[in-house]
Amino acid sequence: MALYSDKVMDHFRNPRNVGTIEDADAVGEAGNAKCGDIMKMYFKIEDEVLADVKFETFGCGSAIASSSMATELIKGKPLSEVEQLTNKAVAEALDGLPDYKMHCSVLAEEAIKSALEDYYTKHPEKKKQ
Ligand code: FES
Repeated sequence: MALYSDKVMDHFRNPRNVGTIEDADAVGEAGNAKCGDIMKMYFKIEDEVLADVKFETFGCGSAIASSSMATELIKGKPLSEVEQLTNKAVAEALDGLPDYKMHCSVLAEEAIKSALEDYYTKHPEKKKQ
């Protein structure tokens, strides 16, 4: 069996939603100290819906594929759903990652959580308890 699924290879070679959003409403960042990879997420939020999302990943192929897939899974979704995204869901949507590459999908979850935190720090009134 190939080490990486077709979906991982596709999102690695043709990543979706790459780039930055200049007037982003929130920015999140996550890094892994061991491998040194870094991921950044930019959110445009309208009426508590993630209207647009872009990412920059300085990292391995699995991290790029994970960020690309993660942005596809959350784009256009209400923030209440964006909050629920787990690294497992990202890895499953990619038809799996090798065990030792699972931490790459964790970066995507963490970068998204970090962007949400940034948003709620700027807009504490929007945070639902
Ligand atoms: Fe570190 Fe992939 S090897 S994010």
